[in-house]
Amino acid sequence: MKVQGKPYRSIWVNNKTGKVEIIDQTKLPHEFSVTQLTTLDDAATAIRKMWVRGAPLVGATAAYGLCLALEKNASISTMAEAIKLLLATRPTAVNLRWALESMQEKLKLLPESKRSKTAWKLAAEICDEDVEINSAIGDNGFKIIQEIWNQKNQQGTVNILTHCNAGWLATVDWGTALSPIYKAHDAGIPVHVWVDETRPRNRGSNLTAWELSSHEVPHHIIVDNAGGHLMQQGEVDLCIVGTDRTTASGNVCNKIGTYLKALAAKDNNIPFYVALPSPTIDWQIDDGNHIPIEQRDAGEVSSIQGKNRRGKLETIQLTPDESPATNPAFDVTPSRLVTGLITERGVCDASQKGLAELFPEKAI
Ligand code: MRU
Repeated sequence: MKVQGKPYRSIWVNNKTGKVEIIDQTKLPHEFSVTQLTTLDDAATAIRKMWVRGAPLVGATAAYGLCLALEKNASISTMAEAIKLLLATRPTAVNLRWALESMQEKLKLLPESKRSKTAWKLAAEICDEDVEINSAIGDNGFKIIQEIWNQKNQQGTVNILTHCNAGWLATVDWGTALSPIYKAHDAGIPVHVWVDETRPRNRGSNLTAWELSSHEVPHHIIVDNAGGHLMQQGEVDLCIVGTDRTTASGNVCNKIGTYLKALAAKDNNIPFYVALPSPTIDWQIDDGNHIPIEQRDAGEVSSIQGKNRRGKLETIQLTPDESPATNPAFDVTPSRLVTGLITERGVCDASQKGLAELFPEKAI
């Protein structure tokens, strides 16, 4: 997508320097800053400290982290150690495991002398494939938005609520939940997005809003608790969210608060869709309770970052010194609350049968 007219991906290899570069997302929306990753530790830190985030981008960054490790030493033991380090950075997004395991499977069969070069090629393929997948998700989700637009007799606006950031910043490009929205907007359907602020890290108000502004998609930021009210008032036609891991039977793990939006959508008879690339499906798990939920620092709840009057980024404390906080980063929305899964191969029921029909080669 474009930033001030210049096309960007969220991670890339600089043609001139050969270095891996990322957008430091901890500074958005106030500063647009590009950072280089030159070592395995840089890549691990970028994921752990959430300079990059979003399930597909975490996978892509881990892939480049492995390249940076193998560039120094391409032995099997170095590869195993690098993968162990990268896997420990964030536990919930399954794309991390998917990217590393699929690279390892291919690389371990090669002679040591060929591993590093092949790793760079595989990481680039993972990125290109992510872009293609997300564009296809956009095309498939577009049809849902178009259908709603037609149901409204092409009058007014299609109001879409989204949670967290599942836009191009969370992937290599296009995004998952936002991809259909970009495609609908570009096709001339008047869409308007309710952007959940998404405390504690404010992915919605910091990142989704920034993305939508850059692409001139009409939107309003709302506090996380406003969605249910807007649904009751008939102000939401459709919800689309992303996911960090969806089980083989269609239970959806996503940013904390997603479950409450799905409950409210069900109560108000509003379609609730989840957009996901196939690497986000965990074919080894059926039960959503078996997904590891990342427990993050309580400081993310008790403090907030913003721009001060001098235009500088500042973090301030919100809560009493004595009050403890707790910070589970994700929740699981049971498949029964999900209207459908928008994948690169089409839209299916959030069920074992639905997913197995679209991905017969993956279903166990
Ligand atoms: O903690 P984050 O910012 O990595 O969480 C991201 C989300 O929950 C996104 O909604 C999810 O990764 C979908 S990404 C296309």
